[in-house]
Amino acid sequence: MRIIAIDGPAGSGKSTVARALAVYLGLDYLDTGAMYRCVTFAAMRRGIDPADADVVARIVGDIVMEIGLQAATVDGVDATIEIRGTEVSRAVSVVASNPVVRAEMVRRQREWVGSHGGGVVEGRDIGSVVFPDAELKVYLTADPEVRAERRSKEVSDLDYETVAVDIARRDALDQSRETSPLVVAGDAFVVDTSSLSVEEIVAIIARALDD
Ligand code: DC
Repeated sequence: MRIIAIDGPAGSGKSTVARALAVYLGLDYLDTGAMYRCVTFAAMRRGIDPADADVVARIVGDIVMEIGLQAATVDGVDATIEIRGTEVSRAVSVVASNPVVRAEMVRRQREWVGSHGGGVVEGRDIGSVVFPDAELKVYLTADPEVRAERRSKEVSDLDYETVAVDIARRDALDQSRETSPLVVAGDAFVVDTSSLSVEEIVAIIARALDD
């Protein structure tokens, strides 16, 4: 079973590269960040404060999510737009720092890979925690200015400064949380994507897979 882990901070190019790599390799693609976003959305929709760790822990097992390439549904409701919105983006780090939420997401991620016969899995802890035996663990990185620039192009209603501040805040939270912080796995293949095109990055990863 082929499992390729793609980790890295926001704006490092993970999603675009992981999707392109999955097509190139003929594997399915899983966006685990979307899973944490769906949990955040589900909590808000139920009127739960995402920061209330105990209550979120109690409901996480009941949340039904379907994450496709184009759309996401949570408990049968279309959440495609909302999970990328400002509210969810602000609250998702605290939800992702909840150990009960993480344990449940990791369980679902392993189940997904089992039922899909492998895959390209994108996140923050995929190579370090979820699939430590992945065939290749890629860690994508890029200069903070480049990452903020990319994100502000994606979210058209926010300006560069707002996005830069938000990315810095999320980086800090993701790197400092106790459970599975964003770290570079010791045996990760690190690619700085600051000045590379998607095609170049995919080619670099494909070469690493052949070696
Ligand atoms: O990649 P993203 O911006 O959609 O991720 C959303 C949040 O979820 C972000 O704060 C990091 C967190 N996350 C995580 O903790 N572990 C993962 N495997 C994926 C995302």
